[in-house]
Amino acid sequence: MTGATGFIGRHIVQNLLSHGFTVRALTRRARETSTDRLIWIPGELEDRNSLAELVRGAEFVVHCAGQVRGHSEETFTQCNVNGSLRLMQVTRQTGGCKRFLYLSSLAARHPELSWYANSKYVAEQQLIALSGEFSLGIFRPTAVYGPGDKELKPLFNGMLRGILPRLGSPEAKLSFLHVSDLADAVNQWLSAENPRSGIYELCDGVSGGYDWRRLQEIGASVRRGPVHLVGISPRLLNVMADISILWNRLAKTEPMLTHSKIGELTHQDWSASNRSLSENIHWFPKVSLERALREGLF
Ligand SMILES: NC(=O)c1ccc[n+]([C@@H]2O[C@H](COP(=O)([O-])OP(=O)(O)OC[C@H]3O[C@@H](n4cnc5c(N)ncnc54)[C@H](OP(=O)(O)O)[C@@H]3O)[C@@H](O)[C@H]2O)c1
Repeated sequence: MTGATGFIGRHIVQNLLSHGFTVRALTRRARETSTDRLIWIPGELEDRNSLAELVRGAEFVVHCAGQVRGHSEETFTQCNVNGSLRLMQVTRQTGGCKRFLYLSSLAARHPELSWYANSKYVAEQQLIALSGEFSLGIFRPTAVYGPGDKELKPLFNGMLRGILPRLGSPEAKLSFLHVSDLADAVNQWLSAENPRSGIYELCDGVSGGYDWRRLQEIGASVRRGPVHLVGISPRLLNVMADISILWNRLAKTEPMLTHSKIGELTHQDWSASNRSLSENIHWFPKVSLERALREGLF
């Protein structure tokens, strides 16, 4: 498993351990402590030797590491495209692996929208070309939230305090997925007898997704008070991206909001369908956004 130290990866690891898997997990951090069934392998996607050690003896590979923030296209390409390719090559050379699961993104449906979206799409294509004899699952989760998430939490907190900033047009369609449902889907895809290789979208199953008005309604119902929808103009978003880039440059970190990201954030239709995955492995999400907000599951 790669990406096990990140928001989604931590949930996947816990889920797999609770279902009896033994996990070998790549880490760039020095202080992770291994146990009998969770073995940390120091290394990174850039280092073939650590990847070979990671996949040694593995029946399944779950590739969840990814670059989600970046100031340049190169940042995304290096990690998401080249890193994924390296992991696949090493996995094939090592032999023994039966299934490879790649955590892509719904964004890959529209590679033209952002550097991130393009890098996920190109990675998918290259993995498919290289996958050879083993099953290759490509998951395209929509926006994922839940305990440990830092990106959507401020939006939901603001909404439950009565303010919902709207990006893009009022009619834009959004979708969401609780991280526990994503972790279940990973476990089920690995545990299924004979899952089909393919590209699968994942969301919380609310048909047609959510528009901003629906989010406003849900927020108002959960907080039992009004929620004000505040439109963020494209001009303001661009200014915010300028500030984010500058701020992160000074802090020597990678920005989430860039001019490239705006295309993705304001896209008209991010509704998704679970049909393909549900038919294949009988996975059905359990946590709708409304339930998560009511029960504080984020
Ligand atoms: N969050 C979402 O809404 C969402 C939606 C769809 C798809 N995804 C995909 O899901 C995956 C996980 O996302 P996340 O939200 O959990 O992101 P995250 O919290 O930023 O975690 C990213 C993980 O990737 C690791 N990583 C990054 N670059 C690496 C490298 N060069 N070598 C080794 N490890 C590296 C990180 O390690 P460190 O801990 O050392 O930094 C971390 O474990 C990504 O592939 C992302 O594209 C996320």
